[in-house]
Amino acid sequence: MLKNKLILVTGLASNRSIAYGIASQLSEHGARLILTFQNERLQERMLELIGNLNVVKILPCDVSQPAQVEYLKQIIEQEFDNRLDGLVHSIAYAPADQLQGSFIDQVTLEGFNTAHEVSSYSLCALAQALKQPLINTQGSIITLTYLGSERYIPHYNVMGLAKASLEAAVRYLAADLGQHQVRVNAISAGPIRTLAASGIKGLKEMLTHCAEQNLLKRNVDINEIGKVATFLLSSYASPITGEIIFADCGYSKSAMNF
Ligand SMILES: NC(=O)c1ccc[n+]([C@@H]2O[C@H](COP(=O)([O-])OP(=O)(O)OC[C@H]3O[C@@H](n4cnc5c(N)ncnc54)[C@H](O)[C@@H]3O)[C@@H](O)[C@H]2O)c1
Repeated sequence: MLKNKLILVTGLASNRSIAYGIASQLSEHGARLILTFQNERLQERMLELIGNLNVVKILPCDVSQPAQVEYLKQIIEQEFDNRLDGLVHSIAYAPADQLQGSFIDQVTLEGFNTAHEVSSYSLCALAQALKQPLINTQGSIITLTYLGSERYIPHYNVMGLAKASLEAAVRYLAADLGQHQVRVNAISAGPIRTLAASGIKGLKEMLTHCAEQNLLKRNVDINEIGKVATFLLSSYASPITGEIIFADCGYSKSAMNF
């Protein structure tokens, strides 16, 4: 499905990461992967995990460091003929104090700015930096979002605002890149126990609640998200752009959850 396609995957921090499920499926479907890591500690962890994946390059990329985003751009220009078939943005962060309690009491300017910078602006910065290599292949971009962008989810707080911003960015980027046949979409995943999700108070209850209330009566897993990502990054999804695709076992379509 993606034989020899070159895809850059961000956000692989552990074997529970959604990015790990995506990288595994992309690899299985023939893609060559460039992986990025946020810091040296995560690089070491990543190296232990990727033995079975078809990885051609590993690069640092803390998205709050513009020089590192620029470095990615340079490497793709110089070592990969300025061609990139896909970009997976699987990055989010908000300070822990922002992800508990009530929004009105917890929100701070610093928390708001950090959540938006790392979780939403980073998609814009990566798309801007990698625009030409993606245009050169009529490539595809995906990001990961969550229902908290459009509905109140307890404790999700400022991250809900950041995800709303991220989803708007998907539409604006899709509009600007569409004339070049570059597609931009988001997968809205149901809750999954990952490092990032563990920072949200009440995750256990949320997982139980979703499995009881969604249409498939179970939680989604990272390999399923990986398969949806593979589809969206492949030519099978050629007319799909600017979309938020729900991969949440039907939770968002049920009126039974409250
Ligand atoms: N787990 C869920 O329930 C769930 C549901 C819907 C959407 N998502 C989204 O999926 C994406 C991946 O999260 P995950 O659940 O796999 O958790 P995760 O902790 O495995 O991944 C989060 C990643 O973000 C990276 N990151 C954070 N700050 C960064 C920075 N400054 N520069 C570069 N990378 C940075 C981390 O290194 C990590 O790899 C996030 O956007 C998250 O919001 C998760």
